Amino acid sequence: GSVENGSFTWSSPSNIALVKYWGKKENQIPENPSISFTLNDCKTTTKLSFSKKESKANFSFEVFLDEEKKDDFKPKIETFFKRIEAYLPFLKQYHFKIETSNTFPHSSGIASSASGMSALALCLMSVEKELVESVSDKLFIQKASFLARLGSGSACRSLEGDLVVWGKHDAIDGSSDLFGVKYPFEVHENFKNYQDTILLVDKGEKQVSSTVGHNLMHGHPFAQERFKQANKNLTDIISILKSGDLDRFIALVESEALTLHAMMMTSMPYFILMKPNTLEIINKIWAFRHNTGSKICFTLDAGANVHVLYPEIESEQVLEFIKSELVVYCQKGHYISDRIGFGAKLL
Ligand code: PMV
Repeated sequence: GSVENGSFTWSSPSNIALVKYWGKKENQIPENPSISFTLNDCKTTTKLSFSKKESKANFSFEVFLDEEKKDDFKPKIETFFKRIEAYLPFLKQYHFKIETSNTFPHSSGIASSASGMSALALCLMSVEKELVESVSDKLFIQKASFLARLGSGSACRSLEGDLVVWGKHDAIDGSSDLFGVKYPFEVHENFKNYQDTILLVDKGEKQVSSTVGHNLMHGHPFAQERFKQANKNLTDIISILKSGDLDRFIALVESEALTLHAMMMTSMPYFILMKPNTLEIINKIWAFRHNTGSKICFTLDAGANVHVLYPEIESEQVLEFIKSELVVYCQKGHYISDRIGFGAKLL
């Protein structure tokens, strides 16, 4: 390319899976399709500055988190650059400065890989667009999602909203193992502005990285049944999202969360990523639902934190319940109130 230097800034959100991705093949190809809500407030903002350099022998970049130099992030980004080099030929022609910040506290136990990798992938696509003649909007997002997937699988579901599917599924035309696509079907208004309050139960380092976790699905005794179940759950969620049947939604989403953890508990080696307070919260949620008829439910990612999902009309009563009964189980009483969002933005 002939551009000497410049910069782009993107903000990109986190996402929470309803049908979980757990298990992958070579090149970050998922073993089963997944679907997620895009979040609104939990996001990463990344500014990528680039300037032409002389030598094209190596990647050259520096990383800053909240204005602080972060050399410990470099290996992850180096790996990412190696994986995407074939698709972005300009990578070795520029020096990059990556300045990033998250709206949620670092080491809150909220994975920043989905928002972080998608924000970086989008910045890199903006550079590509500057160098290449024409990139349509559709191709831009598709390739950015493709690149984000190579950074962190679930990151490919963070670029758009409000529901994104990743992984080939028979019932969803255009779905692909290579990138996320916007959920193409009708969604009942019960799910409009759905709320997700994230209870920060444990902010410690993860006991098991998601890379190790995915790999433990190779040779896992229940792997094939699990992949079948995820496919079926994706089929089922299409009619649930259309009809607005919140009871079926709750059953599917909670079962997915517990199955994800069951896979970890039954791998070799095995892990328990829930904490006692995770279970306290789940039991309180079940009791509250039983006693009040609320449509509150929970989901989990690969950690101890609990995502509390509920319809917008219940916001007041559910937040009251969270404050009076669940916050005691959160580390330092910390929680984040989020909701469904609509994807990344160029700033
Ligand atoms: O994107 P990864 O490789 O960190 O995997 C994340 C997988 C889960 O968050 C546990 C589930 C999902 O689909 O997001």
